[in-house]
Amino acid sequence: MGHELKIFDTPQLAAEACGRAILDAAVTGRQARGLAALAFSGGSTPKIMFEWMAKQPFDWTNVHIFWVDERCVPPDDQQSNYRMTRLALLDTLGLPETQVHRIAGEIEPATAAAQYAEEITRIIPDAVFDVIQRGMGNDGHTASLFPGEPAVNDLSGITAALWVEKMKQYRVTLKRNVLEKARLTLNLVTGADKASPLLHVLQGPRDLLSYPAQISSPEMIWYLDPAAAESLHD
Ligand code: 6PG
Repeated sequence: MGHELKIFDTPQLAAEACGRAILDAAVTGRQARGLAALAFSGGSTPKIMFEWMAKQPFDWTNVHIFWVDERCVPPDDQQSNYRMTRLALLDTLGLPETQVHRIAGEIEPATAAAQYAEEITRIIPDAVFDVIQRGMGNDGHTASLFPGEPAVNDLSGITAALWVEKMKQYRVTLKRNVLEKARLTLNLVTGADKASPLLHVLQGPRDLLSYPAQISSPEMIWYLDPAAAESLHD
């Protein structure tokens, strides 16, 4: 599947390397088409990566920030992925609002998904992101595509609003075909609770419905720590 694995001594070093790769991909994307489109994941893992990125000297001109998924909560809610990114990165950068494209978690989910798809295609008509930074849940989900979710097998569209029974919550997420056509996918996965699902995702049979984190793009790099990688075999 063209997966490259990089294992670092600590979660911090994995996060820094992933952050560095995002910045490099932004430069490449901007050179190629005048702007770069990045999509970030939420959850807890990328926080230290955002904090590291916030400290780097970097020219953010024409770099557009999107999200892989969002919990359907207001933007100031503790659960909001936007809020986490804002506190860890965006407040420091002070980018113009025109470069920040959050998912409206506070409105009706289907409307938020439709608006978000329009916003993506307004900036990048082909919906090809220069880099999509993904995470993986300890159940093998990625983005807000959870195991057993029928949308995993739907190759149409850009975004979806999905009810996630496990979380008892609506989520808005990028859909599979957008994840698959990203120019570069960077997966940041650390911690011992990710070891078993990671073994299935990377070295088990292909079964996207059970392990949506197997959804891949042509260039896919995994940033791991030893705990997450401990079950993998050569
Ligand atoms: C979200 C995410 C999600 C995340 C995984 C891993 O909104 O929850 O975008 O897909 O990447 O759940 O989350 P942790 O980093 O918290 O383990």
